[in-house]
Amino acid sequence: MERRGFLRGASSVVGASLLSGSWSAAQSAGGPSVPPMGMTNLGGGAPTDEAFWTQIRQQFRLSHDRIYLNTAGLGPSPRRVIRAVSEMIEDLEDRCESGHSHDLWETAKGRAARILGCDPDEIAYTRNTTEGVNIVCNGLPLETGDEVITTTHEHVGNTISWLARQRRDGIRMRVFEPSMTSAAETLQRLTDLITPRTRAISISHITTATGQVLPLEQIGKLAAEHDLYYFVDGAQSAGHIPLDMRAIGCHAYATSGHKWLLGPKGTGLLYVRKDALDLVEARWVGAYSGGGDFDMSTGEFSFATTAQRYEFGTVPVSLFHGLSEAMGFLLDLGMHRVWDRSHYLGTRLIEGLDSAGAEVISPRAADEHSGIVTFRVEGMSRADLQGYLAKDFKIRSRGIYEGGLDAVRVAPHIYSAATDVDRVIEAVEALKL
Ligand SMILES: Cc1ncc(COP(=O)(O)O)c(C=O)c1O
Repeated sequence: MERRGFLRGASSVVGASLLSGSWSAAQSAGGPSVPPMGMTNLGGGAPTDEAFWTQIRQQFRLSHDRIYLNTAGLGPSPRRVIRAVSEMIEDLEDRCESGHSHDLWETAKGRAARILGCDPDEIAYTRNTTEGVNIVCNGLPLETGDEVITTTHEHVGNTISWLARQRRDGIRMRVFEPSMTSAAETLQRLTDLITPRTRAISISHITTATGQVLPLEQIGKLAAEHDLYYFVDGAQSAGHIPLDMRAIGCHAYATSGHKWLLGPKGTGLLYVRKDALDLVEARWVGAYSGGGDFDMSTGEFSFATTAQRYEFGTVPVSLFHGLSEAMGFLLDLGMHRVWDRSHYLGTRLIEGLDSAGAEVISPRAADEHSGIVTFRVEGMSRADLQGYLAKDFKIRSRGIYEGGLDAVRVAPHIYSAATDVDRVIEAVEALKL
């Protein structure tokens, strides 16, 4: 079938199940458990196939008034995700129910497990990456004098909780700057910081500062050799790059639903490896964290044997349903297809910005750069450059101060056109005139 027609037909079929009637009607019609949009057999989608990506762009409400290139901050949700959430909210409000359902949790965690490359039982829902960081940072058995290694390119979300623990419990943070030219050099800088007091590594998969893809598997091997706890901040990687928790070898990995995963705002995922569930102590607990009975007279209770132990109390179930839809959307596209497109746009940006005379800060090596590109223009502060892009070219970017960089970051995703990233290059070229 011709692709255009196929997409239209597929979305109307799914629309029929999810748009008409209630969430439960949609569910019994197989809505949430079948691949959304019917894109599973979708042909095409090569990184340079603009006609295909234009079809994907049409699945988003995203205004055409400006060029949105800040996925690393917040990702827009596809229309069907927004519809699924609002349908469910309305249905739940009609009956005043929380909507907490084992089936929904299973479906959504099954999808999350396929995206992260792990077992569904190793996933907990959170509100965002920062919450996952806090659960891990405060749950690990660290003592005064224990050292934790991280980078200068972390987002504040993977910084403050560790600094708070440093102040409270006397752990010591050790920091290195990732090399922009060589993964081997990055590994060496990390290795140089390991001492007999080192207990943990807390590091981004893809950094917020430059979009650098850090050599996670080698870091995992290093962590295992030195018997270190290994935590990965995946805010910039889930939904951006194919993942395999086993290959990474980390104890825990946190991400947000509202960036590359394109889910509702205020959703997140925390992976904790099965054998690390007792290592990362669950500290905020309640209904859903428990393994069954508890006895106030003896003090006996148990935690859930899965990562559900990190979930507690009433949560916005409709948002997690929306996250499930968003993950289904990405799975239908295929994470390799998503990554190839992002990587292609990143390469196009790096090459174009180079020849336009910008100073590209992101790594250039194909296995170290992502779809996120950070650059500077001589003589312009990040505020000036960001303001210029916004005012004269209607481009939404983000200023980067992390790691002392005074630069601007652009982060396209599957809804971005090649012409969107070309506008950034044109904007820099125009400065030369
Ligand atoms: C690497 C990294 N970690 C953590 C965060 C914080 O994300 P959230 O606000 O969703 O917790 C961000 C946000 O941009 C980030 O880039």
